[in-house]
Amino acid sequence: MTGLPEKTILRALAGETLKTPPVWMMRQAGRYLPEYRATRADAGGFLDLCYNPDFATEVTLQPIRRFGFDAAILFADILLLPQALGMDLWFETGEGPRLNPVTNVAELGRLKGKDDIHDTLAPVYQSVKQISEALPKETTFIGFAGAPWTVASYMIAGRGTPDQGPARKWMYTDPEGFGKLIDLVTEATIEYLAKQVEAGAEVIKLFDSWAGTLAGSCFEDYALKPALRIATELKSRFPDLPIIAFPRGAGGGYIKFADQKVFNGLAIDTSVPADWARDALQSKITVQGNLDPMLLVTGGEALERETRRLLDILGDGPYIFNLGHGITPDGDPANVEKMLNIIRG
Ligand code: CP3
Repeated sequence: MTGLPEKTILRALAGETLKTPPVWMMRQAGRYLPEYRATRADAGGFLDLCYNPDFATEVTLQPIRRFGFDAAILFADILLLPQALGMDLWFETGEGPRLNPVTNVAELGRLKGKDDIHDTLAPVYQSVKQISEALPKETTFIGFAGAPWTVASYMIAGRGTPDQGPARKWMYTDPEGFGKLIDLVTEATIEYLAKQVEAGAEVIKLFDSWAGTLAGSCFEDYALKPALRIATELKSRFPDLPIIAFPRGAGGGYIKFADQKVFNGLAIDTSVPADWARDALQSKITVQGNLDPMLLVTGGEALERETRRLLDILGDGPYIFNLGHGITPDGDPANVEKMLNIIRG
């Protein structure tokens, strides 16, 4: 690469403090947008959107057209990888994802190897290519995957659970068998993300939505170490690739991520106080977050107050404005507009 990056998100991830912080939102392509609901109805269902490059490109671009966010994130799901590894995946309306679970080491034999995922995922790589060609030149394109712990926890439970109990039971009772699953997901994730980068993704984000359920040494073993392995391997193949980690719910464990030179950005959830993030994290790493998504439902004075508060506290260091978790289906696009007007003055 020659010279410094020009796109705002890339500049922030390179450690620069921008006068107006760049902004995007988790789940920015989603059900709160009428145009998303219309495209989803045309496609038939959520997975039909994910595996059709034309539809996936369209919904990725919708929030960029409407709001001009500084980043677009690939429209896909973290559970496409287990599907590519040979599991059945479907979504129960109103409930969420379902997989036919792997519950013990013997069942790992059902899964494919890390190099056998690409036939299933080829449409996703095609979406990446089409989106990267269609985006405005100032918009950064983020590819992503789930982190191994979060992905494995859905593979083991076969669905969302309140506390990832089934995965934590396996983790404690058969660490060796469980470690094999984590290793397989880690290795497949590296190959999946490498293909996204080759197809045009400029930044990679690793979603560990359930990192907060890992206690004691398990946080290091199953959240930190797999993320490090993925990031280190990707950087050996793509030295300039910026990587954002999101170990949601990690609490003090965020410091362990900030201390690793291999990550460029750290996404914080709503449980992290912004002033703590400024003092404990921001001198080491670019911080991204953490407006409460509920404020995009309620709007009003609270939205204005909390948006300004984040800008005041985190705006003097390397910062990317975002939510603490994804925008919910009852979020109001008018409130998103309001938030952007406050950020951009
Ligand atoms: O952020 C984006 O706009 C990019 C696309 C994206 C989706 N899922 C689309 C999606 C991303 C980055 C994800 C990540 C994802 N998927 C995570 C990690 C982030 C997080 O939210 O914690 C997880 C845990 C999943 C698994 C998943 N996918 C669940 C639990 C659900 C059901 C819950 C829900 O919100 O309905 C999904 C479905 C899903 N993934 C939707 C979207 C837009 C809703 C699908 C629909 O249109 O019905």
